[in-house]
Amino acid sequence: MSVAMRGDGDAAGIGGDALVVTAFTGRLGPAALSLDNAMDGELSDMVSSGEVRGHLGEVTVVSAGAGVAARRVAVVGLGERDLLDGYRLHNAYTLAARRLRQRRMTRLVLTVDASLAQGAVPGVAALLRAMVTGTLLANHEAGAHKSVDVDRAPLIEEVIVAGVEQEDGDTVDGALAEAVLLAESTLRVQRWVSEPSNSLTPTLFAARVEELCAGTSLSVEVIDRVALEEAGAGALLGIAQGSDQPPAMIVIRHQGGPPDAPVLALVGKGITFDTGGISIKPALGMESMKGDMGGGAAVLCALHAIAALEVPCNVIGVVPATENMPGGRALKPGDVIRAMDGTTIEVVNTDAEGRVVLADGLALARRMGATHLVDVATLTGAAIVALGHVCAPLMSNDRWLTGLVQSAAREAGDRFAELPMHPEYDACLRSEVADVRNWGGREAGPIGGGVFIRAFAGGLPWVHLDVAGTAWNDQANLKDVPQGPSGAPVRTLVWLARLFARA
Ligand code: BES
Ligand code: MN
Ligand code: ZN
Repeated sequence: MSVAMRGDGDAAGIGGDALVVTAFTGRLGPAALSLDNAMDGELSDMVSSGEVRGHLGEVTVVSAGAGVAARRVAVVGLGERDLLDGYRLHNAYTLAARRLRQRRMTRLVLTVDASLAQGAVPGVAALLRAMVTGTLLANHEAGAHKSVDVDRAPLIEEVIVAGVEQEDGDTVDGALAEAVLLAESTLRVQRWVSEPSNSLTPTLFAARVEELCAGTSLSVEVIDRVALEEAGAGALLGIAQGSDQPPAMIVIRHQGGPPDAPVLALVGKGITFDTGGISIKPALGMESMKGDMGGGAAVLCALHAIAALEVPCNVIGVVPATENMPGGRALKPGDVIRAMDGTTIEVVNTDAEGRVVLADGLALARRMGATHLVDVATLTGAAIVALGHVCAPLMSNDRWLTGLVQSAAREAGDRFAELPMHPEYDACLRSEVADVRNWGGREAGPIGGGVFIRAFAGGLPWVHLDVAGTAWNDQANLKDVPQGPSGAPVRTLVWLARLFARA
């Protein structure tokens, strides 16, 4: 993937497969308008006739006339201008570029509407990142295990960004380089999340991480079953005991700041397959549970990007990885296990396994000196019921860290909505036999998960992101969001580290 910038403002003079201009609902964007004159009003005619409606992700391809060096002009819809945010910008470009790829257009020239940098996204750099990263995300391949893929389109190979003000060339070049890095990280999370559980066991997951981080400044440590027993990681081991695959606690360290500086811990759920255990799930759709390590993948790939960007702060990534299986040795409802921090957990529902393994993840992060905790998990189906695939629940015990995560999300084009943590919700933790129980009923599902995980934060500033819905869009009706794995929230985590370093 190559990305370049041409600052001379003459987008029409740049060769490629398509010159990409934009339309909002019912009207052309600025670059389309200026092109329209040279094209004898063809573009505005298409708006009048309704051929171009400008809805999000719509693509209309026309032949480029004289004066345009690219083979075609592609009008990409951005929807209502006032409703545009980083999330919708990313999605518009991904949806459009997927269609252009299908039509064998792989060298794209993007025009920039700098006015979008005020309001829709926080600045020109964020605008360029949304456009370029969004475009490159069209390169996600669903058919990784196909022997022959007759439908496979060539990859987007070149993106040129044209017509952006050159007043700060370094910033623009930096933004484009970051856009490529963030796209690569997002695509990697998407690949890992799509990977079948038999080719991404906890052991193979850890091996991939070691391979990815080899030769970088990151140090990776994989804590195996024996070492987990020594460490007293009874929560992770408890969930793992129904599986023939050994668990692994994957730990990455990025030492970008002085030794005594604060330590941001990113803790990701790494369930490589979730059958539900003895509280087994129904068969229909269970295959989607191969993606139950999406939070962990986002954490690990974020650390890789954080190191590549040489972010000047200390970050650790912790991913408790295991399968959740039924079997003769599996946990049974009512069993009590002891987490690494000594808390005893009554496991009343073995399908609420994510929060249980995260208990040990957070405990380990604290033991390693974390000062701030952010956990990421495909935790509850109820998160999908509440917010669908377009926004993820956020829970926290700390205003400042919540603000930092939300600012990072704006830079990254992710979305989070905060859920309350009123003290009455603590009732769901109460156990007759142990310190806590892992499930307190179906009401307030995502909050129940948050309340449980908070019990392992040791009073540190903590944010919980439940990405069960946003990590994967499997709803065919939801046309404004690209189908399949999103890679979320890897970019938010990278930006969080950057903002943490500046704080
Ligand atoms: N991994 C699931 C949550 C999930 C569901 C993620 C759908 C992605 C898509 C999680 O471990 C789980 O099983 N949650 C239970 C809740 C629990 C309280 C029993 C659920 O969603 O039913
Ligand atoms: Mn489960
Ligand atoms: Zn799960």
